Amino acid sequence: MSSLPLNLLPDTAAVGPSGRLSVGGCDAGELAAEFGTPLFVYDEEHLRSRCREAVAAFPDGAAYAAKAFLCGAMARLAHEEGMLLDVATGGEIRLALAAGAPAERLVFHGNNKSLGEIRMALEAGVGRIVIDSWEEIDRIELLVGEGRPVPLVSIRVNPGVEAHTHFYLQTGVADSKFGLSIEGGEALAAVDRVRESRAMELVGAHAHVGSNVFDVKSFERAAGALASFVAPLDLEEMSIGGGLGVAYVEGESAPSITEWAEAVRGAARAAGIRLRIVAEPGRSIAAGAAVTLYTVGTIKRIAGIRTYVSVDGGMSDNPRPVLYGSGYEVFLPRAVLADRDLPIRVVGKHCESGDVLVWEGRAPSDLKVGDILATPVTGAYGHSMGSNYNMVLRPPVVFVRDGAARLVVRREEYEDLLVRDLGVDR
Ligand code: LLP
Repeated sequence: MSSLPLNLLPDTAAVGPSGRLSVGGCDAGELAAEFGTPLFVYDEEHLRSRCREAVAAFPDGAAYAAKAFLCGAMARLAHEEGMLLDVATGGEIRLALAAGAPAERLVFHGNNKSLGEIRMALEAGVGRIVIDSWEEIDRIELLVGEGRPVPLVSIRVNPGVEAHTHFYLQTGVADSKFGLSIEGGEALAAVDRVRESRAMELVGAHAHVGSNVFDVKSFERAAGALASFVAPLDLEEMSIGGGLGVAYVEGESAPSITEWAEAVRGAARAAGIRLRIVAEPGRSIAAGAAVTLYTVGTIKRIAGIRTYVSVDGGMSDNPRPVLYGSGYEVFLPRAVLADRDLPIRVVGKHCESGDVLVWEGRAPSDLKVGDILATPVTGAYGHSMGSNYNMVLRPPVVFVRDGAARLVVRREEYEDLLVRDLGVDR
């Protein structure tokens, strides 16, 4: 029975002589003791190095897709490393600005941007608005007509490309809520409409075909379709969105950001296109940077069936296994290299059977109550999709680097759960 594949750990992860995990020079067990569990531990060097790789791979513009993982420290880090920020709601705009990201470095996405959100974007002066619908064009015209500044826009097109990923994560097929269809002629009609408008200036076209895509061929097809669309239009910029997959479990491997960029550029060249090529990676920046630490609370052995290991978090800090059936590995930071010969199902503390973190996990057989248990590759779409289900307290986030741990998001407190509730005595 195999031990944890070490390629799933963050870049600076190291295993000490006693088999214990450290990340960023900090012992994982000591982090759990200091900050409590559940705990998101992010390797700052890993985040920075993926940002740098993205900026080098897409020198015309690499935007960090904030939806993957956003907090003030992350927005600042991405900005410091030269990335733009892809934001998809008023909340993400508010946070990015509050973290000090300049408005002109923001790219504003979303299939249903409200009038209020567009007003906010225009007044802040965001760098790009990526138009996703006819209604949005009307809203921009209305707001600019009232005297707000004229934005630079690009148009999200739907290239009709089926990316190889989970059905929920496909966005480039004809039957999608996202984008204006190339095939149906809507995309071209939108280009004409936007070009005629004095309320916006068209700079480019955008296509994001899906997320957690492992096969570069999907990106080549999308980039090819997008390039053929923009070729006759004399646009300055094309964005191929995000979507690059990452390895989550043993046996998986994903292309690097650099390989992704080469594939996209190759497809654009093949279509005879010379223009700025930009991208918006989220998962490939943040996922592998983090491990989540939990404490084992109960171990339930059902003879002949299964061993359930309950931890102090669950679907409220990582809903991906429930939503997409996603797989994760599990290991003990006190014994990283130990054989994992005990089949277990790691479950959370929420009141439903679907509250599973690791469906088919394995752990060393000396696993016991009170152990710190870790899941790797939890840096993307865990913290950001977390919830307060069952009124649990959302976990803190620490960034580790050079032997120091920095608390960047504190643990939620019971008081935080009451602040918006007008029906309680506080
Ligand atoms: N750009 C656009 C327009 C997007 O919609 C997305 C992701 C990205 C960029 C970044 O994609 P990434 O590089 O992170 O794959 N909750 C799901 C993923 C949803 C992705 C939504 N859009 C999950 O946990 O797998």
